[in-house]
Amino acid sequence: MSEDRDYLHGYTHEEQQRLIDQAEILAPQLYEGLDFSNHKKMLEVGCGVGAQTGLLAERFPELHIHGVDVSQAQVALAKDRLPGLIKQGRVQFTCADATDLTAMEDDGFDSAYICWFLEHVYEPIAVLKSLKAKLKPGSKVYLTEVNNSSLFVQPYSPNILQYWSQFNDYQWTINGHPFIGLMLPNLLLKAGFKNVVSEPRSFFFDDRDPAEREKFMNYFFGIFNSANDILVRKGRIHHEMIKEVQNEFERAMTSEGSVFYYSYVRATAEA
Ligand SMILES: C[S@@+](CC[C@H](N)C(=O)[O-])C[C@H]1O[C@@H](n2cnc3c(N)ncnc32)[C@H](O)[C@@H]1O
Repeated sequence: MSEDRDYLHGYTHEEQQRLIDQAEILAPQLYEGLDFSNHKKMLEVGCGVGAQTGLLAERFPELHIHGVDVSQAQVALAKDRLPGLIKQGRVQFTCADATDLTAMEDDGFDSAYICWFLEHVYEPIAVLKSLKAKLKPGSKVYLTEVNNSSLFVQPYSPNILQYWSQFNDYQWTINGHPFIGLMLPNLLLKAGFKNVVSEPRSFFFDDRDPAEREKFMNYFFGIFNSANDILVRKGRIHHEMIKEVQNEFERAMTSEGSVFYYSYVRATAEA
């Protein structure tokens, strides 16, 4: 199914590798306070290439994880990457559109994990309702999603800002939601989840740790690059802007006094 659908980042090998690198880089932050130790069976929706699936399985050895993604290419790579865990019965992957999981036979999950996924979905409430139908009552769900309105870079970087505006606006036109982190509580309530808690979290780098600032900005620059081809093809940016964005990132990565800030949202709830 469905490499032809509009998907901002695309399904190139570079993008698949970006997801693997991203999972490693963000793991310390993303898994802080995350606790699936009393759970046995997790549904991971929008699992991509299983970049987080493997890390979660390592972290929670009692957990069986079933990852679902709409892209055959992502699921194929996920299976190739984690043969050991699949053989042990710890992990499995299915190619399906999460908007309707009724055809998926597996159910009775006691937990769910969603990360960097709902921003790409046209009907997030349908996805959450479809997920809820697969969960036992009381199951815990963790969702982590973007708030792209929060990006701040010092020194002032007009090309980064213009590029980011085009990136987000293009995502709107393909029915995504680049600020969906802030919508999570409303969406979860609408889908029938209870005990909804939302927590804004941030990446905040400055002169306190220049090496981490550089590493993180380099990673974030990769998110920009993942959209270069599509934004050029849609006539939203041009090659000179890509070069200017690179210059601005390199300047901010290496200058004393520079600041990088980005905030995302983690929500938890019960089925
Ligand atoms: C940015 S990736 C995140 C992957 C993974 N959660 C991670 O953190 O590495 C988003 C994924 O959502 C998948 N996706 C988009 N729409 C989907 C849908 N309707 N149902 C299932 N997966 C979908 C894409 O194929 C892509 O692999």
